[in-house]
Amino acid sequence: MAKYYNEPSRTFSEYLLIPNRTTKQCMPSNVSLRTPLVKFNKGEEAAVHLNIPFASAIMQAVSNDTMAIALARCGGISFIFGSQSIETQAEMVRRVKKFKAGFVPSDANLRPDQTLGDVVDLTARTGHSTIPITEDGSANGKLLGILTSRDYRIHKSGRDAPIAKFMTPFEKLVYGEEGTSLSEANEIIWEHKLNCLPIINKEQQLRYLVFRKDYDQHKENPDELVDAEKRLVVGAGINSRDYKERVPALIDAGADVLCVDSSDGFSEWQYETIRWVKSTMGDHVKVGGGNVVEEEGFRYLVEAGADFIKVGIGPASICITREQKGIGRGQATSVIEVAKARDQYFEESGTYVPICSDGGIVLDYHVVLALAMGADFVMQGRYFARFDESPGRRLRVRGNYMKEYWGEGSDRARNWQRYDVGGDTKLTFEEGVDAYVPYAGRLKDNLDLTVGKVKSTMCNCGALSIPDLHRTARITLVSAIGIREGGAHDVELKESDISPET
Ligand code: IMP
Repeated sequence: MAKYYNEPSRTFSEYLLIPNRTTKQCMPSNVSLRTPLVKFNKGEEAAVHLNIPFASAIMQAVSNDTMAIALARCGGISFIFGSQSIETQAEMVRRVKKFKAGFVPSDANLRPDQTLGDVVDLTARTGHSTIPITEDGSANGKLLGILTSRDYRIHKSGRDAPIAKFMTPFEKLVYGEEGTSLSEANEIIWEHKLNCLPIINKEQQLRYLVFRKDYDQHKENPDELVDAEKRLVVGAGINSRDYKERVPALIDAGADVLCVDSSDGFSEWQYETIRWVKSTMGDHVKVGGGNVVEEEGFRYLVEAGADFIKVGIGPASICITREQKGIGRGQATSVIEVAKARDQYFEESGTYVPICSDGGIVLDYHVVLALAMGADFVMQGRYFARFDESPGRRLRVRGNYMKEYWGEGSDRARNWQRYDVGGDTKLTFEEGVDAYVPYAGRLKDNLDLTVGKVKSTMCNCGALSIPDLHRTARITLVSAIGIREGGAHDVELKESDISPET
């Protein structure tokens, strides 16, 4: 006979937190959101931490190199999507690892023998008015001069005039040498009243540009997530088909942590994949597994050697797995049960395996609930897809700005490996939709607000850290009518577009 779970599985919106005593130390500025990303033994530190408990989803519409840079700069991590070629995924990882705050690789360059016409065309195309002139016209060619819009007047000189006549030649340029720090570069910029400082290597080859206008944005960020060499930390998704080629390429590109991306991780395919990574590549290569929704799945992947486990089947915003296949579980129940299994395993073995609540976070307080229920960090797709830094296009839809957001199991992404249960190597039916989400602007502005709310709620709960919250949170179920009570009710909402009488 089938096994029945008698309690319904529940989702975040069915719960609320009961405040604990808030001590005077409990201020948002005293709250630490540092959390382990990979397993560790009792009394030791995890080899990789997050400074805020946020990961962006392993999805084409969410995690490319631009997203990874923006999120790591705020203290979280992106897992670069794996539903692309090994080469392009590794290249994205490489770009994150090469990123240096304030040091911009130049993407608008020309040769001295090219003409002002070429300059005008390039400026129109890229929007850049500072053009490094290199020997071969490449971003890292030998620097011969710089041309800015103040150096020429196109209507006087004409499109055919050669650049060499107008550029500031190398001999007259102020430049910095490779190894110059951002604050040193800024000093030079101020001292010489420059708008842009080129950074070159010993062979006079151009490495980066540092712009005066960028400095404020690039001031040190206290939460920035960096490795021992001060490079941003980045993750990458893998699958259980081509891992023998993909994993070495990603590690070679500098990926700090990998994660097997699968909608149902309780499988022999995934077990073998994780085992292979650990036994062939070595334990220093960190790899997470998932997704699971209960204790047996958790223990299975821990036994395979997983460094962290992702939790969640079917809660995601773009997900239709439950409708298509009837598998899944309410996300809150999954997190509560897997967290219990994690704590039990820690007690038995002395090894703490972090868990990640993946998908289904709609409101900011769901993040705190997931953490309070035992998650060590959360993974989100919809949330991040709304920002400037996500790969999707920004479009005007019915009068509002939207960003595109599509599931990995949609016909658009065709990530059949994520739904692979052996057999045919193609996507035979969809498990995700192709959709829009409201455009929300810059990642940092939004994330600062969310992090602020998370810390504030933690203060209500009397918790100064995530482990504190795990230990002391008090959580209550809310009835269906109680949920109604949670929003504005029994009032006439004012129209937001009414302007005050003058
Ligand atoms: P969201 O934050 O609710 O949008 O959920 C993001 C999560 O959805 C990802 O981290 C994946 O676990 C999951 N996911 C991604 N693509 C699909 C899909 O096509 N179908 C079902 N789940 C998906």
